[in-house]
Amino acid sequence: MFGSHRVQIKTPEQVRRMRRAGLVVGRTLELLRTAVRPGVTTGALNALAEEHIRGCGAVPSFLGYSDPPYPASICTSVNDEVVHGIPGDRVLAEGDLVSIDCGAILDGWHGDAAITVPVGDPASLDARAAELLRVTEEALWRGLAAARLGGRVTDISSAVERFVHGEGTFGIVEDYTGHGIGTEMHMEPDVPNYGRPGRGPRLKQGVALAVEPMVTLGAIDTDLAEDDWTVLTRDGSWAAHFEHTFALTDRGVWVLTALDGGRERLASLGVPFGGEAD
Ligand code: MF3
Ligand code: CO
Repeated sequence: MFGSHRVQIKTPEQVRRMRRAGLVVGRTLELLRTAVRPGVTTGALNALAEEHIRGCGAVPSFLGYSDPPYPASICTSVNDEVVHGIPGDRVLAEGDLVSIDCGAILDGWHGDAAITVPVGDPASLDARAAELLRVTEEALWRGLAAARLGGRVTDISSAVERFVHGEGTFGIVEDYTGHGIGTEMHMEPDVPNYGRPGRGPRLKQGVALAVEPMVTLGAIDTDLAEDDWTVLTRDGSWAAHFEHTFALTDRGVWVLTALDGGRERLASLGVPFGGEAD
């Protein structure tokens, strides 16, 4: 699972290129957030994403990925769908919860991020679903903030798990993990969302990882749908998914897919901002 010699190390110039790719992803997701409303199809969100990514001079990394080839530019996972939902004719309804996962390649470098958003009036969202959103999003930032120069990969995993389990009864999906990222979307190492700290490759300058907690209101077991992509909770409980790509610079964490690079959230968690001005 872990082999630190396999972790791709980026130069500062390469990290700056990854920032450009990350911003394409971050801006696409902000556009999609504003487009989510009752009556919109997931396919319409996909079309908007593809147009925006290509308009930035980038390429959607999910399209044609793997085998069977992934057929769209984003993943849209609704309610009990955890990740990898395929956009199509599904019409979003008031009170739904939709996770949108987006990846882009710019200049050979990858960015990968996801958000989960309520459909329609946030006040119409089930109270437990609202809690799920809050906990999963904050867990992502706790994980990012746990990445320190000289630390290890599972410091992130442990921080995610401790936060989620400290907030109440939630399931952390174990069948899928975060991952290294750079000249490919999925690289070594895996970044699990649970486990004890102090394990895995060392976190050093030039390491880039995608952190992506997937949390449920029930059990952790998942099933694969007939389409060979959509991942569902086995017990039908709702799930949330948030993801960011970050790099470690000589000063700390730079959240490459966050519009502000993570400056604000990292500061609120008391850790140094490793980014540069865009
Ligand atoms: N962002 C997803 C991940 O990190 C990738 C989606 S799978 C794809 O694993 F096929 F859609 F690309
Ligand atoms: Co990812």
